[in-house]
Order: sequence, then structure tokens, then C-alpha cells
Amino acid sequence: MSREITLEEVAQHDSKDSLWLVVRGKVIDATKFLDDHPGGVEVIYDVAGQDATESYEDIGHSSEADAMLRDMEIGILKDTGVPAASKSSKSASTASASSASSGSTSAMPYLAIAAALAAFAFYYLNVIQS
Ligand code: HEM
Repeated sequence: MSREITLEEVAQHDSKDSLWLVVRGKVIDATKFLDDHPGGVEVIYDVAGQDATESYEDIGHSSEADAMLRDMEIGILKDTGVPAASKSSKSASTASASSASSGSTSAMPYLAIAAALAAFAFYYLNVIQS
């Protein structure tokens, strides 16, 4: 069972004596790996104590690199940080809002036509009966 680690805690490990970073929601202890990184130490320092997913993905690291990540994994990122939580809830609400609005947009013409037909039929039947 992986330990859950907050981004605040990760941020405290931003020196070469203890260097953690986050890749794809996993907390990586890269302290021992630092000097062995084929891409150099500087790029790792740049993302020390931070979420490095984007930088890591941008390079297009190999599956060998992915395997190294797994070896250095010490836990998973806990998703309770205020920025992370507000970000995910915002994107979730945006997604549901946009899907709801796009859903209603596409259903709208049919609803309007159905309502118009119903009103017309009602009116027509009333006229016929009277
Ligand atoms: C702890 C996480 C990381 C691991 C395990 C890792 C591992 C590796 C490995 C094994 C390579 C050799 C090429 C390959 O197999 O893909 C590599 C290359 C490279 N890495 Fe990383 N890397 C990490 C994080 C990063 C980060 C955060 C950056 C930031 C930009 C970065 C930048 C690079 C670059 C630029 C190269 C290319 C070096 C070259 O081809 O000359 N790496 N990395």
C-alpha cells in the first residue's frame, strides 16, 4: 500500500540531499539518481520538490526511464492540497457544465419543435371540437 504524500511535503525535499518530485501522481525520491540522470542534474534541480510530469512527458522518456521511476517511487501524491483540489473541482464542473450545455443545445431544437407541435395539435383539436 503506497503512502499518500502531500505536495507540501514533497516541496520540503528540494535539495540535493533529499530530492523528491512528482511524476504522473507518483512521488519519486530521485536523490540517489540525480548524478546518474542522462539528461543532467540541472533539469532535475529545476523541478525539485515540484510536479515534474509535464517536463518529464515533454522529453518523451523511454520505457526504461519509466521503469526507473517505478523503482524510485516512495508514494502517491495526496490530492487534498487546496490548489490541486480547487483545480480538479473546477475542471470537473467546467466539464460537466460544458457537456450539460452542449447536451441541451443539441436537444433544444427538438424540444422546441415537439413543444410547437404539441401546442399546435392542442389548439387544432380545440378548434375542431368547438
Ligand atoms: C526522476 C525522474 C526521471 C527519470 C527516471 C529520468 C530518466 C531518464 C533517462 C533514463 C534518460 C535517457 C533517455 C531515455 O531512456 O528516455 C533521460 C534523458 C533525459 N531526461 Fe530524464 N529522467 C527524469 C526526469 C527528467 C526531468 C524532470 C527532465 C526535465 C526536463 C528530464 C530531462 C531529460 C532530458 C533532456 C534527457 C535527454 C538527454 C539526452 O538525450 O541527451 N528528465 N532521463
